[in-house]
Amino acid sequence: MTELTEKPPPHGGDVYHLARTLGVDIADLLDFSANINPLGFPPGLTMAVQEAMREIVHYPDRRSLKLRAALADYHRLTPGEILVGNGSTELIYLVARALRPRRGLIVTPAFSEYEHALNLARVPADFYPTDESHNFTLRDVPEPQAGDLVFLAHPASPSGVLLDPELFLRLAARSEAAGAYLLLDEAFVDFVEEASLKIHLGRFPCLLILRSFTKFFAIPGMRLGCLLGAPELTARLAESQEPWSVNTMAQVMGRACLADSEYISRTRALIKREREFLFDRLAATPGLTPFPSVVNYLLVELTRPGMTAAALREQMLTHRIVIRDASNFRGLDERFFRIAVRGREENERLLMALEQCLRM
Ligand SMILES: Cc1ncc(COP(=O)(O)O)c(C=O)c1O
Repeated sequence: MTELTEKPPPHGGDVYHLARTLGVDIADLLDFSANINPLGFPPGLTMAVQEAMREIVHYPDRRSLKLRAALADYHRLTPGEILVGNGSTELIYLVARALRPRRGLIVTPAFSEYEHALNLARVPADFYPTDESHNFTLRDVPEPQAGDLVFLAHPASPSGVLLDPELFLRLAARSEAAGAYLLLDEAFVDFVEEASLKIHLGRFPCLLILRSFTKFFAIPGMRLGCLLGAPELTARLAESQEPWSVNTMAQVMGRACLADSEYISRTRALIKREREFLFDRLAATPGLTPFPSVVNYLLVELTRPGMTAAALREQMLTHRIVIRDASNFRGLDERFFRIAVRGREENERLLMALEQCLRM
């Protein structure tokens, strides 16, 4: 247990480590700390992968042509505007390294890998904080300088709120005018695809939009993501990418995911219903204040004096339920935790355990 009390893990979803530390099987843990589609991956994936097995005697298609064509179709772009990667995280590191920015400007709170990628590329990082009174999203726009690389998540992470499109357009125009790059992280926008800002790509050559297969299609272990951007920019980034980083199985799975429109609509309906259910129940629980969200996670503030997210996380572990202590997000503190939206029965279990822990 000591290792658990030392410091919260940098991310949610570290179930291998947790199961080892607790001496339990992964299957015994109910994981609300990583935001993965509770339906599991699309059913057609197993067959698609079995069929693709015979291709693994070859190196993967280095340019992922079939997957890029499918992505182009899905996003109404051209294949030249798409670069695929080994998870969107690989692409964050690639951008920080390959664009040689003068400075990184991160809108916080934010996914910690932006800062880590900048550190590894020896690029200084600055921060543009958003605050609680505005649900941790932009209420005004930073002023990027020449050579900056701006990181901004849409919907916001970890609060799950949408950006005001007007503010985004102002930021994109300022970035373009200043000679800065803007990386818009839409890793969770699939849950509200109609809100994606990808429609503005053609107007801003400095804009890169990051997408992930991890969350919506429930394949975190496969590693697949992509960047959408102007063909000149994606081609430049491709030159700095390690060869074959996207394996054959991932390429095949990506295409099968995009083709399953029934799974896609079922997921959106389920997440919307369950998020509303969870939000209402959490809002009615004394000591908890959830933030409004449009995606498959909810940021929650502990308002009961003396209770910290780290302590709550430990107590929840005695129920074998994992929540994300969000205190290590820059700009948040020990009052904040985050939970995924799962299926009804699991959500009920979470709520029951939370109520018990808060009564103690
Ligand atoms: C906001 C955000 N962006 C990007 C990622 C990276 O996802 P992946 O590398 O699995 O595509 C995460 C993962 O948690 C995230 O929370």
